[in-house]
Order: sequence, then C-alpha cells, then structure tokens
Amino acid sequence: MPQIIIDGQRIEAAAGATIIEAALLAEKTIPYFCWHPGLSVAGNCRMCLVNVGFPKKSPDGQPEIDSDGNVAIQWGPKLSIACATPVADGMVIDTEGQRTEHAQHAIMEFLLINHPLDCPICDEAGQCKLQEYAFKHSNGKSRFIEQKNHKDKRVPLGPNVLFDGERCISCSRCIRFADEIAKQPALTFVQRGDHVTIQTFPGMEFDSPYSMNVIDICPVGALTSIDFRFHSRVWEMSFTNSICPGCARGCNVKLGVRDNELQRIEPRTNMHVNEYWMCDAGRLEQYPYVNENRVIEPSMKGNPSDWQSALASCADILKAYKPSEIMIIGSARGTNEDIHATVKFARETVKTHNIDFLDHRDPIFADEFLRIADRTPNHAGAIALGLRPQDHGANADNLAQRIAKHQVKVVIAIQEDIVGHPEFGANASSVDHIIAISSNHNATTQYASIVLPASTYAEVEGTFTNIDRRVQLIEPAVTTKENERHMGMKMSRWDKLGAFNDRWTQGEKRNSRPAWKILVGISEACGTAMKFTSAEDVFNDIALHNQHFKGMNYASLEEYQGLRLDKASEPEAKAVIYVSHVLKPQV
Ligand code: SF4
Ligand code: SF4
Ligand code: FES
Repeated sequence: MPQIIIDGQRIEAAAGATIIEAALLAEKTIPYFCWHPGLSVAGNCRMCLVNVGFPKKSPDGQPEIDSDGNVAIQWGPKLSIACATPVADGMVIDTEGQRTEHAQHAIMEFLLINHPLDCPICDEAGQCKLQEYAFKHSNGKSRFIEQKNHKDKRVPLGPNVLFDGERCISCSRCIRFADEIAKQPALTFVQRGDHVTIQTFPGMEFDSPYSMNVIDICPVGALTSIDFRFHSRVWEMSFTNSICPGCARGCNVKLGVRDNELQRIEPRTNMHVNEYWMCDAGRLEQYPYVNENRVIEPSMKGNPSDWQSALASCADILKAYKPSEIMIIGSARGTNEDIHATVKFARETVKTHNIDFLDHRDPIFADEFLRIADRTPNHAGAIALGLRPQDHGANADNLAQRIAKHQVKVVIAIQEDIVGHPEFGANASSVDHIIAISSNHNATTQYASIVLPASTYAEVEGTFTNIDRRVQLIEPAVTTKENERHMGMKMSRWDKLGAFNDRWTQGEKRNSRPAWKILVGISEACGTAMKFTSAEDVFNDIALHNQHFKGMNYASLEEYQGLRLDKASEPEAKAVIYVSHVLKPQV
C-alpha cells in the first residue's frame, strides 16, 4: 500500500487510489467540480489542482536534506489534478500551500467570468458548489470587465429537467451520467470555447426514468427540477433520512420539508442499495399524497369523531362478530412495526386466521437498474413477519368470494383501498362493516363505518425490509399532532421557531397516528392491550421473537445503513460517504 504525505500528514492509501480519494479517506477535502465517485473521471474543471512532489535524492540514492534539516522535496513543474492522478509510494501532496491556493483562485476567477450572478433567484443557492467555493477558494476579485456571454436559459432537456446555459460550467457530469448510469446517451456538448453549451442530440429528449439525478449532481444551478423549481430555498427546509416507498428497492432518500409539507425527495448515498441515485418516479410520486387528500381526523359514518370514541366503536364492532367473520387486510406499504402489530392484533386480539396483504406488482415499472415490479417497500418484511392467513383462513384471493357468501362480514383495511379494488369493490355492499385505517381519502374511506387517520411513511419512525431483505430505518420528517414532541429538533428551523402568525408555521398538523399505534388503541379498547408505546418498542419485540430480525436494533440499523434479515451479526463494511456540502450533503 503506497505511503503518502498529505499536508504533512503521513497516511497509507489504497493501491490505485487517486489523490482525491486518498485525501477524502484522510478527511481532507480537495475542491472538485467535475469529479464524482459514481462516474468516470473527466478531469476537465481543474478545480482539484494540487502541488505534488517526491523526496529529492542525491546521486548516491540517499534523500537530500534541506537547510532546515528536513527531507528536500522535488515539486512537479506543474500542478496535478487530484481526481485523475493515482497516488504513488513516497508522494508528497500539498493541498493548502500558496501554489495550490493560487491555482484555485485562478480557476474560480476563470469559471466566474461568464457565470451569471443569479444566486438570488437560483434554486441551487445554498447548496451550490460554485457558491461554496467562491467563499472558500476564491480571492473574491475579478479582472473581467467585459460583457458576460449570454446563452439559452430555461431549456427543457426532457420532461423533468430544465437547463440554464449561462450557469453551466461545462463539467460534463450530466453527460457522463446520461451515458454511464441512465444508459441513455442523449446529452452532448456543442460549440467550443466560451460558446460551449449542453444540448440533447437532434430528435432526442432526456426522458430516462433516472433523468432527475443530473439535477443533484450538477454542481451549479444549470439543471433544475421542473417539478420543484422555486418551491423553497434550501435553507428553509429540514432534511430527514428516509426510504423511498415507491418500490421494493428501498432507495435511501432525504425528505425536504417546509411549512410542514414534503417539498422534495432526493437520493441519499447507500452503496449497498442505490449508490448515489434514485428514479424519477420515486421523487415525483411519493410526496403529493403526503401533502394532499389526507384523512385528518377519525370519523364514524362520515361524521367527525375523536380517537377514544372511534376506537371504542371499533371494539364494539369486533366484539359483535365471530373471529372467523372478521378479515384483516394488512399492507406491505406499512412498516415492519405496522405489520408486526397487525399480525399480533389478528392473533391475540381478534383471534382470527383471516389475515393477508395485497400484491401491488407492475411489471412495466421494473428495469435492470433500480426499479422493481413490486411497488411496495416492505413485501419481504410482510413475509418474514407472517402477514399471511393461517389454517385456511380467508386470504386476498378468496376474500371476494367469502364476502359474497357472507362468510366475512367485517373487514379491517390497513392502508389498502379495498373498495376501489377491482375484485372486492363489487362485493363491498355485502360486508356489514369496513374499518378503514387510511392516510388518504379513497373509495374505502367513503364507504367505511369507521375511518381512522393513519400517518404516512413521512410521519413515522419505523423500518422497511427491501427486496434484498435489508431492514432499513425511516424517521419522521412531517409533524403530526401525535409525533410533535418526538420531532423536536428534527423540524426545520422555520417550522420550529416561527411565530404563530408567520406564514411558514401555518402548515397543517394532522391528527393521524402510525398504523401500529392505532391497532394498539383498538386492542386496548377490546381489553387485550398490546403494550407498545413507541415504534422502537415494537421493533425490539420483533427482534426478540422473530429469528430473522435477531440482533437488530434501531441504533445498529442506523450505524450500518441497514442490516439483512438473518445476518445482523454480519454487517457489510461501512462505505465511505463523500460529502461535499454543508447544507445539503451532496457529492
Ligand atoms: S449542466 Fe451542470 S452537470 Fe451538466 S455540464 Fe453543465 S454544470 Fe456540469
Ligand atoms: S427505484 Fe423504487 S425505491 Fe428507488 S426511487 Fe425508484 S421507486 Fe423509489
Ligand atoms: S475535479 Fe479534477 S479536474 Fe475536475
């Protein structure tokens, strides 16, 4: 392994590592624009120039000693780009000295010649590498007095990405992403010199299902989201770790919240799941239902109610029927905690064998990269936790038939629109009661005797188990009346500290609860209490009683970015997460 000295610190670097990689491992950040750990090296921005040398040797092969008694260094005639230069044994690297700093100032001055002063109206402001480096690595002066170049602005590259030619610094990250990751080589440079710009090839549009990742990796504000543009400044939002519930891949994401509304979803690095990326559907489909069309309070027969009365009425209904007449439809959209509580509720409170969950497969959605046909985030968890009928109980396949024959008379639907389902909908009128535990209004909540408002994935603490049987933690990002105290410092500064009459504190706090907690409430009302007070309690119970989850807890799931079922004692090596930005960590 090559021994190198970087800013006076001797470190052992991995063989074949570039200077930028070795430096990051030593917690030294060399500024960079075009380099990205998930893309090929382009070496075109020159922001990562560093001073590189080797110990001088005298003719007899011995190291030369300078007048201060130190080993003399033969510095290179020119600086080297850290992103493309592999480390070599004995290499001495200076990332902070005068020569390096002078080069950084020069590159920043060069890049800012034509870059507009758009920061006040640019979505990237606050999370922009160019802006950040202008503070850290520029001398703040420009000798350029001529007119800046004008280029095309607001050019759609595809349905989701808008391009601003003036802001582009020609780093080619977007072109390489389109070629190498999205496998849709639709983008290219056209023109030369200071007229260079990005275009799609004639007749093509950049409509890859992964196109919006270029917005994250564009180091400036040249690529913005058509969906999110001008919705919020980055510093007004809080960012919370979560998992995309859009399919069984379980891409790691950050949820950006302001006004207690989910404003945007962006990928979070997990080298074992999604690396640096996520699909556009995950970003665009998984936030509107958190903000809109919500069930905000319990109701009975369409009339608003309170939790206590609604839970007591659920208990009355359940007590009036035989266990075999009650069906519980759980959901692979729920967390492991929801599912564990559902199974326990069916076995211990209702004592029914009629329990199952619905499949949500969409083969057209699947591809060979991240997207999976199973559009639920927790199918593997539902299987591992036993969300299936026992002893020939009713299941999702024969439910319609059993309803029609009036064998099933009560259905508890947890986060599933069974009335809107093509098979069950026609038979809904044959059911005496539907109890809907639902976050959004749908055909089932219209029809149900009792509706209990469930929190969405963005409002709860819990875990999902992905297609690779990896159990991953989610945290609440949006405040409800139930989780308000728990959220505490996780809320955005604006949401938390605004005065009551500030516009940004007017976001709605719904009276919803996590599904597991609603089931605990019904079981209490039935007199068979499940003694869980937090999601972590439920998870600890799972880890205690279910062999697949043995050895897991929230702390270890967070530490290792998830653990695989049956393999909690063999966590994968923690990957290096490159973070180059303060407000919104992005590489
Ligand atoms: S649009 Fe952004 S990512 Fe693409 S070349 Fe320009 S600066 Fe780089
Ligand atoms: S691949 Fe699946 S989990 Fe990942 S972002 Fe897309 S929908 Fe979400
Ligand atoms: S980061 Fe090295 S040249 Fe751009």
